[in-house]
Amino acid sequence: MKENLAHGPGPIGIFDSGYGGLTILHSIRALLPEYDYVYLGDNARAPYGSRSFDVVYQFTRQAVMRLFRMGCQLVILACNTASAKALRTIQMNDLPAVAPARRVLGVIRPTAEIIGHLTRSGHVGILATEGTIRSQSYSMEIKKLWPNITTTGVACPLWVPIIENNEADSPGADYFVQKRINTIMQLDSAIDTIILGCTHYPILLPKINRYIPASVSVVAQGEYVARSLQNYLVRHPAMNELCTRGRTARYFTTENKTKFKESARIFLAEDIDVAHIELEL
Ligand code: DGL
Repeated sequence: MKENLAHGPGPIGIFDSGYGGLTILHSIRALLPEYDYVYLGDNARAPYGSRSFDVVYQFTRQAVMRLFRMGCQLVILACNTASAKALRTIQMNDLPAVAPARRVLGVIRPTAEIIGHLTRSGHVGILATEGTIRSQSYSMEIKKLWPNITTTGVACPLWVPIIENNEADSPGADYFVQKRINTIMQLDSAIDTIILGCTHYPILLPKINRYIPASVSVVAQGEYVARSLQNYLVRHPAMNELCTRGRTARYFTTENKTKFKESARIFLAEDIDVAHIELEL
């Protein structure tokens, strides 16, 4: 259904199922501080990782439409699961029908683009949610760009719940982090680079670094997604003009705003103002 969306400049929208996208927003604001940003976390319905294709698509579509109504001309799906399961349909079907001039970008492509420059052995591991691994989005994107790279993906279904529930520093988290790292290294001992293919996972970096072999580098996406956005805005001056520059960031969650504010501290190390919103079709 076509809506009357306001034209004119607006903030850049950043969407994630929960807190994970804050790691991406953090990197984007470090590189591109001059713009305005609106962050939307669907914490009430997170995690998305084990949900079906259709549900992730519907939830993501609702969030993108809400960000459009808030005036965003450009939205980043700062969530691998949404990028894997919803981005293509939104770009191919929804945008032409409801908002042909607006753009929605994901986080998988920018990560796939850089990976060939980071691996030396040509063996790359991907740790991500069940949904992202099952979609095979990483292996397909990487194959297209770097046909000689061998990829191995392992799903870490408990990592997001651990983080969303504020247990990332707990001793219990060590068990699950070590288990998945052992699994991926047993599947391919030639892996020299591991992509954290979920925007939540950088929060577990201290533990990941504890268990990863010294010869393996870990790639968190924030920096690469930020550089890719910078590049996109240079290549698309008309869209760049439609992104307002007031150096602000506003935060919205579908969960309780006090809870979001407290947990967001772990991701952003700063105090923020948060508003609650409901998402609907
Ligand atoms: N942060 C998300 C991702 O990058 C999603 C996690 C989830 O909701 O399961 O995949």
